[in-house]
Amino acid sequence: MGTPVDPTPTFIQDELVRASNSPGYPLTIGSVQLRTSMRNWAEKILGVTGDFDVLPTIGSKELIAWLPTLLNSKSVNYPDIAYPTYLVGALINNAKAQTVGISPESWQKADLTWINSPSNPTGRVHSVGELQAVIDFSRRNDAVIASDECYLNFPATGQPAPVSILKVADGNNTNLLSVISLSKRSNLAGYRAGLIVGDPKLISHIREIRKHAGMLVPAPVQSAMAVALDDEAHVMEQAARYAARRDLLKPALEAAGFIVEHTHAGLYVWCTRNEEDWDSINWLADRGILATPGHFYGEAGNQHIRVALTSTDALIAEAAQRISA
Ligand SMILES: Cc1ncc(COP(=O)(O)O)c(C=O)c1O
Repeated sequence: MGTPVDPTPTFIQDELVRASNSPGYPLTIGSVQLRTSMRNWAEKILGVTGDFDVLPTIGSKELIAWLPTLLNSKSVNYPDIAYPTYLVGALINNAKAQTVGISPESWQKADLTWINSPSNPTGRVHSVGELQAVIDFSRRNDAVIASDECYLNFPATGQPAPVSILKVADGNNTNLLSVISLSKRSNLAGYRAGLIVGDPKLISHIREIRKHAGMLVPAPVQSAMAVALDDEAHVMEQAARYAARRDLLKPALEAAGFIVEHTHAGLYVWCTRNEEDWDSINWLADRGILATPGHFYGEAGNQHIRVALTSTDALIAEAAQRISA
């Protein structure tokens, strides 16, 4: 599982405790403090300009699962190797779901299209040109793009920082949503903290439904989110941890005959030995190492495995040694 194991930074835990006396209902739209932090962060880190809005979400899995319902999307495109919740969200709303490749040239028209850069499970990062092509598709078809950017903060050693679709949009955020999670960015998966940024019309629509449908982010979590978003130092520390783990595991896997593909950012090493994924999984299991078969993310991944960097430094070092040996 890609579940963080490094501690939640102490200053975030302290803020959660400080805000724990919370007798009243939290605001759907987020506290003033949180709204300010989200907007500042979106401008500074995502690079969004022009007219945009923000909205806190309970994690991002929950948003991903319910977005087709909230937007009443009847057709949903999602990547052919992908996080399974894009499909689940389409099924919840009885939408037609179809898998798509990277280039929008071959995409069918759909009310909602998911992209995920950096990708889970492949660690592939969209280039600016690829993001521009996605935006062009959205403009041509008047179609919503939801860009899942929960791994934006974790480039591999020597790789450029991945770019948000909202930066490429250059001030025209119509039909564009960036989906953000603090689970990995701030080791906050247990708090369930995320946000969306983008088209004010879309966000207003979602906000109005949420005011009555609930899915409120608890007030102490809102406070913790705000201080987390105001700080980038802890994110850079975490990025350095993942980069160091990637730098240990990647050569060990390569020496054992695996071909590492993509893996330019995010939380995973995506690799193949050109054999059935279960054979690679069994080979690792014989060494006491647990990884994920690629077909869990779509049939196209059935000769790949996903190795997560979400284990302690000591266990990653031990795993690299066992693989090398
Ligand atoms: C691509 C992707 N999106 C979204 C999520 C959901 O994260 P969370 O619900 O913790 O924000 C995950 C979790 O692993 C993920 O891999």
